Amino acid sequence: MSEVQFRILPDPAALATAAAQTIVERAQAAVAERGRFTIALSGGSTPRAVFQQLAQVPLSEQMPWAQTYVFWSDERAVPLDDPRSNYRMACESLLNQVAIPKENVKPMSSQSADLDAAAQHYARVIQGIVPGNPPRFDLVMLGMGPDGHTASLFPHSPQLAVVDALVAATPPAPLEPHVPRITFSATLINAAAEVLFLVAGGDKATRLHEVIEGPRQPETLPAQLVAPVAGTLTWMLDQAAAQQLKVDHG
Ligand code: 6PG
Repeated sequence: MSEVQFRILPDPAALATAAAQTIVERAQAAVAERGRFTIALSGGSTPRAVFQQLAQVPLSEQMPWAQTYVFWSDERAVPLDDPRSNYRMACESLLNQVAIPKENVKPMSSQSADLDAAAQHYARVIQGIVPGNPPRFDLVMLGMGPDGHTASLFPHSPQLAVVDALVAATPPAPLEPHVPRITFSATLINAAAEVLFLVAGGDKATRLHEVIEGPRQPETLPAQLVAPVAGTLTWMLDQAAAQQLKVDHG
């Protein structure tokens, strides 16, 4: 059963700082307990400010980079140096600036001609590093799109029903960028010890209210699929995104 926590921050900058501090705390605890920290980064624009905070002292010096293993919870099927690449955004805002061993950074094979094979390969890479069956990430970062999608699990898409695969390929996305994707399945997301769901901006407020407080309709609102089986779901919101929440989640 999921434990659900809410943290509502005044603005996107405070949200980024709080999220970055949370990542450091979880990394230090995981390394202390198991000698390793495994994280899947989210894409889009929201996490950029989080990564930039992690790249700066003091947080960059507090992170156990040598024991940290970085994956992505989804990726666009574009070259890794393409401006639309989630990997490129993370490298520019964080990974190129910190002392993480290159072999600890595991990008998806986003430019493969066979994305199904690339998804299956990525699942094997994960299984080789992340313990558990299904593999249990210490932390999976997610964002939520204006349509209620998360990772690259889009409304009414066949990937929502994928339960026996850890990673799946998708056709061109219904939202920009309209390119095929590779995405964690809900099964892999929900195996995590913790999911950090970052949502900022008033443009997401209505949809966030529907996802969190509305009727259950995961086919239409895939973000509702996120419910760690034996872990914590932490919603980290700014006040603008949280403004339509009726229940006091404080
Ligand atoms: C992607 C993301 C996607 C993102 C949401 C929110 O590859 O686009 O993984 O799921 O998290 O669309 O994106 P923003 O943070 O840009 O609003």
